[in-house]
Amino acid sequence: MRTPIIAGNWKMNTTYDEAMDLVEELVDGLEGRDVEEIDIVLCPPALWLFPAAEYVEDTGLLLGAQNCHATDRGAFTGEISAAMLTDQCSYVIVGHSERRQHFGETDEIVAGKVAAALRHGLRPIVCVGEGLAERDAGATDAVIARQVSAAFAPVEDGHVAECVVAYEPIWAIGSGRAADGVEANRVAGLIRGTLGEQFGAARAAQIRIQYGGSVTDANIAEFIGQPEIDGALVGGASLKAETFIQLCTIAAGKAGA
Ligand code: PGA
Repeated sequence: MRTPIIAGNWKMNTTYDEAMDLVEELVDGLEGRDVEEIDIVLCPPALWLFPAAEYVEDTGLLLGAQNCHATDRGAFTGEISAAMLTDQCSYVIVGHSERRQHFGETDEIVAGKVAAALRHGLRPIVCVGEGLAERDAGATDAVIARQVSAAFAPVEDGHVAECVVAYEPIWAIGSGRAADGVEANRVAGLIRGTLGEQFGAARAAQIRIQYGGSVTDANIAEFIGQPEIDGALVGGASLKAETFIQLCTIAAGKAGA
């Protein structure tokens, strides 16, 4: 009932040529694969969204941005608003831990971005996740519940199902040390439970929850096979066409199974 969703977060990688080559390889490579049952979202750097949109047109592949500003326009040098992204994108990642860590994004700022995305018809991929110290201190559940409640505070009932949550433990990102599938499923269940308190269990059951953090074609099956996990937010492995194609193929196979 929930369509699995695999999103590739390219982060601040690729030149223009590399980006176009990668999109082309993904379009060609995924064409012959049986991946219609899942949503595949590419999130290249914002500059490449325009040219990438031409490549993915009519392919079924979707585009997402990696960030947006909470305000629609104004004196925010260097920023990109959700309003500016709507022509190219269907999704936007918000509150990634790298943005929380390096750019001072608070729960309140993230909530503002979620609201902006929904206001402009974009589906937010809301990232939450605990740091290693928080996990070691046994604070994981409290941190996740706080981040989820804050991010969804401005969300109206009618928009809930458009949102995606990515559970990304910070210690698992880019480390090659993915979380355990069962534990990731437990936290995804906690996220759904927290959303259920705000919107009711039926609504919460419609939200897709991804796992993110060192996902590759070698471990995607462990996550997509979990009942509460509906896909993955993929960083490093989304930059290698062959790996990402294989990862999506495995995810689609599990979805259809
Ligand atoms: P990773 O990144 O797959 O390279 O660990 C995931 C992410 O940051 O979204």
